[in-house]
Amino acid sequence: MCGIIGITSNKPVSSSILNSLKKLEYRGYDSAGIATINDGLINEVKCQGRVDVLEKNISQINLLGNVGIGHVRWATHGIPSTINAHPHSTERISVVHNGIIENSVDLKKLLINKGHKFKSQTDTEVIVHLLVEYLKNNKLNESIIKTLNDLDGSFALGIIFKDMPELIIGARRGSPLAVGYGPNENYLGSDSYALKSMTNKITYLNDGEFCIIKKKDIDFFDSKGKKVNKKILHLSSSDQNYEKGEYKHFMAKEIDEQPITIKNCINEYIDKINNEINLHNFPWKKDEIKSIKLIGCGTAFHSCLVGKYWFEQLTNLDVQVDIASEFRYRKNKFNEDCLYIFISQSGETADTYAALNLCNKNNMKTCSIVNVVESSIARDSKFVLPIHCGPEIGVASTKAFLGQMLVIYLLCVKISFFKGDINKHKYIEKIKNLKLLSDLVNKTISAENKIQLICNTFADAKGSMFLGRGYSYPIALEGALKLKELAYIHAEGYPAGEMKHGPLALIEDGMPVVVIAPKDEHYKKTISNMQEVIARGAKVLLITNKEDNQVVSENIWQKIEIENIENDLYPFLVTIPLQKLAYYTALKKGYDIDKPRNLAKSVTVE
Ligand code: AGP
Repeated sequence: MCGIIGITSNKPVSSSILNSLKKLEYRGYDSAGIATINDGLINEVKCQGRVDVLEKNISQINLLGNVGIGHVRWATHGIPSTINAHPHSTERISVVHNGIIENSVDLKKLLINKGHKFKSQTDTEVIVHLLVEYLKNNKLNESIIKTLNDLDGSFALGIIFKDMPELIIGARRGSPLAVGYGPNENYLGSDSYALKSMTNKITYLNDGEFCIIKKKDIDFFDSKGKKVNKKILHLSSSDQNYEKGEYKHFMAKEIDEQPITIKNCINEYIDKINNEINLHNFPWKKDEIKSIKLIGCGTAFHSCLVGKYWFEQLTNLDVQVDIASEFRYRKNKFNEDCLYIFISQSGETADTYAALNLCNKNNMKTCSIVNVVESSIARDSKFVLPIHCGPEIGVASTKAFLGQMLVIYLLCVKISFFKGDINKHKYIEKIKNLKLLSDLVNKTISAENKIQLICNTFADAKGSMFLGRGYSYPIALEGALKLKELAYIHAEGYPAGEMKHGPLALIEDGMPVVVIAPKDEHYKKTISNMQEVIARGAKVLLITNKEDNQVVSENIWQKIEIENIENDLYPFLVTIPLQKLAYYTALKKGYDIDKPRNLAKSVTVE
């Protein structure tokens, strides 16, 4: 949520800042801006909208300067507009910010009383004026510390000063921030992705730390101003994964990548010769885990829900699932025998991170399942299980969802075997079936179906419903979420058995309803629920597997058949047509698939 970049160099920086902002756009695309220092002046260029608008504006002027900061915004305080776009500058100081300053209203009042004049409606602008105030009587470091101490809430900041034209200040509390090391230049970025095209040498700031970045050196300080030494990490992954290639959208590419990301993940965790799931260095003994709590947001929460069904099915453990933004503010009864599992693609989601920190503070066993292994959630968990998906750029999560489910399933099967809930024979059988998964996902993706035709009805619909039982219920929630976020169509996911308790009243003639009914133990019941909606005029799209001849059902509007697989693994296959349904419906409506309105990829504010 909001992207930050800063560069201090011995050559002009505006074009490199623009390039990095293009990469950061997945974090926010309401507005964009750059400020550089040149000839003793701060020059600021900002616009409402995307980075390509900013680029056009900059191409009309010659934005010089060897030190600069840039920002892409996901609006929190104040509408998306040029005036509210970052950087926020006075004549002497310019600031970019990711996060929320919760006491900005009080601080603004105090500053106005001291004669400060505000231009924007943002919470960020108070930071600029606080610094101006403190710098009147304090040196740089003291002014930074005093300013940061005055702020409540979360922030990652990049700050430049007219009077200290060689440096950039970076500071973080709650929101992620990294620095990068280059040849005769150094960088600041809200994630390593922004810096990767310039360097693979990265250091992450910890909560409360700030740094002074000059083109040849970087100094780090803790919240009290004491110098700290930091490790430099060397990132390996190539830049190619960040390109769309011949695809029109990242989402289409990421859907198609699923067979390979599943294969990679299975290769990482399964020892194929010994038929063994390896959770290298898993730190807890079998008797130390008596219950499981899975925590996440959005799509990650849906993978937690699927996990609940698996853990209940395959182990004797008590399993609970929680939405991170609820968990963090509830009066939780912490349980030292519980394994708290945090699921997050980005590893930076503010609510999930706060829930993790809460568990860490209470000395709980914390494990995270993440895609970005350098992320805050991964770094602060006691044990990390990466999903090995490669970068996911499309705002709508696709391959990461399958990756999250896969790692939860691997963990579940391993725990179940290691606690003696399934025997060796069953364990090996499950591993064998997992080895088939990548090919079956591939077949499901390539299967010829009428999805593009089906989308026409969804594109014209006022609303739709997604129904399922068992594992297919969380998948229904996920299918509905995808359609909402990409095609802006009201969609509700429901347990199929709940329809008659209220939502059936919503069904009217011609309403498209997706029924997810693989041939598992819930099949017949789901088909009965399907008949109830058909009888009330719904146009049903049934997603089932090839051998669905157990129950012959007439009046089904459309049917998509997936491959046959072990019951546990249907969630992986039935998800694919739902991803495509959302993709093609949004395409038909002409929406921006990789950057849906009002959203951002990495949700670093609560
Ligand atoms: C899914 O399509 C989303 N855009 C969103 O729900 C996402 O899954 C959620 O914000 C959690 O993100 P995370 O996995 O990075 O924590």
